This record gives sequence, structure tokens and C-alpha cells, in this order.
Amino acid sequence: MKGIVLAGGNGSRLRPITRVVSKQLLPVYDKPLIYYPLSALMLAGIREILIISKPADLPLFRRLLGDGSHLGVSFDYAEQPEPKGLADAFRIGADFIGADPVALVLGDNIFYGQGFPDVLQCERKRVDGVTLFGYGVADPRRYGVGELGADGELLSLQEKPEHPRSNQAITGLYMYSNDVVELAYELEPSARGELEITDLNRRYLGQGRARLSPLGRGFAWLDAGTHDSLVEANQFVQVLEQRQGVRMACLEEIALRMGHIDADTCYALGIVQEDSDYGRYVVEAARRFAERPLATIVEA
Ligand code: G1P
Repeated sequence: MKGIVLAGGNGSRLRPITRVVSKQLLPVYDKPLIYYPLSALMLAGIREILIISKPADLPLFRRLLGDGSHLGVSFDYAEQPEPKGLADAFRIGADFIGADPVALVLGDNIFYGQGFPDVLQCERKRVDGVTLFGYGVADPRRYGVGELGADGELLSLQEKPEHPRSNQAITGLYMYSNDVVELAYELEPSARGELEITDLNRRYLGQGRARLSPLGRGFAWLDAGTHDSLVEANQFVQVLEQRQGVRMACLEEIALRMGHIDADTCYALGIVQEDSDYGRYVVEAARRFAERPLATIVEA
């Protein structure tokens, strides 16, 4: 399975912060926002990842993340000149996707929870059509909403509805079979001129090939698209990391635990940023792993 991080858009709800800086490069406590959605793809075991952003921002993402080889993965980059909707990612990424299934994650979505890698890897294997990830929220009107039947089957999808049929928000992580590219090309722009991901997902629903996997209440799902949600995300990560002494979305540690890099490489990646707590954590992660590799994997 290939992976796409969509990090485009104008970040208009975060003005003036995003006037000259891309939303997905803003800090969420100790690391740039894009680290979080990237980590979700890496935890799913995906190693070929396309990052889509505006032409002006793409060089910055490239400088931040490089070609991914230091993490034992591969990062490619593609431009989205105008924000033409989330489903546009599959047209832009058509060549990159090739003949593979693909996961899309929105560049401002943060996921955290016990057993998340297992959920991802298990769903990845069984995807046929689209697999959506639902999350119960207090105000579903802000999101896509999925209605589930008695047996957990997906009955309907609404986009930012006035009258939501459930509290299950559709999170910004989607897994698709390869025919998503074909369907994305068939899609017509909506009234606001965008290729809507919910329209695409409704096609699969019509074919009986859409599944919703609810992330339980033990998970955290945050988006960082507004001033308040960005502050909340910062606070959440700060509290969790300081309390537990672990780092969320530490790409170097994930690469190590997924077996993409060895402890020496991880150590070297930490040393070059050891002036920061984050860098020192990477060094420590490498040390712990070198001493007790198996135990560390089991703890993960
Ligand atoms: C998009 C989708 C929406 C989804 C949300 C998740 O909305 O259209 O269905 O629930 O992402 O973050 P946006 O936040 O781009 O308006």
C-alpha cells in the first residue's frame, strides 16, 4: 500500500499565522504538525509516501523531510497548485499510486491510542473499496459523519450536516483499493468547485464497498485547523509527553521500531539534534533499543 499526505490548502482558518507558513509546518509542541499524520502512515507499515502541497511550500517540506532514506522509507513530492478538494489527491498522485492500494491522510490530523498500529495494519490488509475511521465527537456538524446500522454496517455518509445522523465523525485517514484513481477521475466538482472526498466515498457506499472502523473512546483524534484546535493539540501533546516520558509521532523512533533503520542510524539522527529534548529522546530511544531490542518492540 502507498501513502499520501495531503498538506495543501490555504490554511485560511488560521490566518494570519498561515499567511507565509504552511499550516502543516506549524509546531505542535515539539515537532511540526506534519510529523503526526506521517507517523500514522508509517505505523501502518507504509514505506512509500507522497507529500502533496502548494508549489511555494513544497521546498520547505522537502528541506524538512528529505527523500526519507534516513528513515528507511521513501518520500516523494507533488504540487497541488490550487486547493481543488481532497479527492484531487488521487488525480495528482495517479502515477505514484500505480497499481497499488493507497491510504490518504490529511496533513492536520493527529491520532493517538493504544493499539493504533495493530488497527492500521489489520485494516490495511482487509481493505476492499474504502475503509474510513470513525471517532465519536461532541459536535459532528464540523465533520463528515457516518451512520452505522445495528451490525456496524455503514448506512450513510453526510458532509458537515446541519442535522447529523450520528456522532461518528469521519477522520482524515482513508484507505482505498486501487480503483480510487479511476473513481476520482469520474468525479464532478461540487457546487464549491472541489472534488469532494465524501462524494467519492458515497460511490463506494453505493457499491457496498465502504466500511467504517470506529476508533473507540480510548483513542485521541485531533485536528489542528483552527486557532483553538491548534492550541488544544499543543496542550494534549505536551501533557501526554511530559507525563509519560514518551514522544508521540517521533519518526526516528518509529522507523527504528518498524525495523526500517538500525540503532546506530537512529542514534546518529538524534545526535544532530541533541540540543533539543526531542533530539535527546531519539538518542535515548536508540540506546534503549540497542540494549534490549526485543523488549522494546514488545512494549511498542
Ligand atoms: C475534511 C473532510 C471531512 C472530515 C475532515 C477530517 O474536512 O471533508 O469529511 O471529517 O476533513 O479532518 P475539512 O476539515 O477539510 O473541512
